[in-house]
Amino acid sequence: MRVLSRGVLRWAGWSSSQPKWTGICFQRRREATVASTAAGAPRLKTFQDLPGVGFWSFVYWFLLRGYILHMHELQVIYKKLYGPMWKFAVGREKSVSIASPEILEKMMRQEGKYPMRCDMTEWKEHRHLRGLAYGPLTEEGERWYHLRQVLNKRMLKPSEAVLYADAINEVVSDLLVHLENEREKSPCGVVVQNVANQLYRFALEGISYILFETRIGCLQKQIPAKTQDFINSIGLMFKNFVFVNALPKWTREVLPFWNSYLESWDTIFAFGQKLIDKRMEEITAQLEKGEKPKGEYLTYLLSSGKVTIKEVSGSVAELLMAGVDTTSNTLAWTLYHLAKDPEIQGALFQEVVRVVPKEQIPTTEDLGRMPLLKAVIKETLRLYPVVPINSRVAVKDVVIEGYHFPKGTLFSFCHFALSRNEANFPEPNKFVPQRWLREEHTSARHPFSSIPFGYGVRGCVGRRIAELEMHLALTRIIQKYEIRPDPQGGDVKPLARVVLVADRPINLQFLDRQTDDSSHAFG
Ligand code: HEM
Repeated sequence: MRVLSRGVLRWAGWSSSQPKWTGICFQRRREATVASTAAGAPRLKTFQDLPGVGFWSFVYWFLLRGYILHMHELQVIYKKLYGPMWKFAVGREKSVSIASPEILEKMMRQEGKYPMRCDMTEWKEHRHLRGLAYGPLTEEGERWYHLRQVLNKRMLKPSEAVLYADAINEVVSDLLVHLENEREKSPCGVVVQNVANQLYRFALEGISYILFETRIGCLQKQIPAKTQDFINSIGLMFKNFVFVNALPKWTREVLPFWNSYLESWDTIFAFGQKLIDKRMEEITAQLEKGEKPKGEYLTYLLSSGKVTIKEVSGSVAELLMAGVDTTSNTLAWTLYHLAKDPEIQGALFQEVVRVVPKEQIPTTEDLGRMPLLKAVIKETLRLYPVVPINSRVAVKDVVIEGYHFPKGTLFSFCHFALSRNEANFPEPNKFVPQRWLREEHTSARHPFSSIPFGYGVRGCVGRRIAELEMHLALTRIIQKYEIRPDPQGGDVKPLARVVLVADRPINLQFLDRQTDDSSHAFG
């Protein structure tokens, strides 16, 4: 049972810390009334007073009803059962779940200078055992703050992300060739199988090119052997992580998962280190010749003088891990919905070709003139917040909604339930990008009702890069192809693995666009 509950709490990869609680009782729903002290004065309620999930409820929903990979749906169910704030208290796992934008805002606004998400113990263990540095996901406190100060530069501001547009466009061109090759493989010549997998190769190539300033060949017909090892290691690391995270430590001696997990990380780091060393040699040679080192992100990090090579290596590995599944799955969901909704796709095509005629490559200024394109991505991230649950550990005592929670309490933010809330998003399960275009809609909406990139100083460092990648890729795909569902494919639903993924391969038809298409516009 501990195995399951640990795995579940940590399934998003972002969560889990072990706040020290004592005397927790598992109880059914009860009305949240302010309790009284013996003297009759009202006192703040505590974790024990919260309604929520205890052992039997856990067994019922997770095991008997089979929601273990559908945690995102459970958020919606629990919200209906317990209200906007509930507890999870199973064995040693204790957390407070939040599914109201108002409470989320209150929590986030008091998170302090060094917000803590959760303890990624097994990632840290690898770094510790191998004498490597932590990156932005695993580091905490002042050291994390210092790292983010350095990493944020050249990445976080939209004006800085623009630096990478040419590099991303180059990779998008290769993606289009790759999609062409993939569809040719199908018997009818137009179906691309498992679109998320193809986009994974795009996202990995894109982020590697930005981080290492080197192409690694993910989109080549024959992926180079070293790159293939690297890709396999990422997959293996995540797969084994599920087991090492869930199983007790003693099993590390008898089961293969732990060693395989460590080896996968070793391969990931070794791959990165080789590229870093190569770049470092080039920078040194340039400096020796009295030249200013030319280059982008890696060059900036290595020549900043603010982080060591070891720190660069730790950070680059974690940036890579965070920047691939997120972008690729979001793009896959986008194409899936556009295929199902020809009217929206038609309107998007019209917008794209109005700004960037066919065969032309979009610039970042062009993207600024495509509001529907941006709305489509926002709407996808609302329906499928790729990180469906995020967390913060209270760095001091928190008083919220009449409850007192001690320092160390783990708060889980239920982004799936939040962004499918009818109060902020009428017809919440429908794909309606237009809802992001109309002023009267956006101004009435709570600002914390859909925050797929997180919030504040600990928010996603790769947001601008991710948006640029998704916007540039989507523009070119829609310019070139009309996307339709595969007649053999059925409805695809999300599954909560490390991120929200499709429960079956998304196969789509990629048809050449013959004409400028009929005009679609939203009335
Ligand atoms: C659709 C794309 C993406 C989504 C939806 C996304 C979402 C998120 C979310 C929700 C967080 C947690 C933020 C918080 O706790 O407030 C996060 C953190 C992070 N993301 Fe992203 N992300 C995406 C793409 C990327 C990319 C492309 C990169 C790398 C360039 C990246 C690197 C990171 C890192 C390093 C962190 C940890 C930051 C820290 O703890 O200081 N992400 N992301």
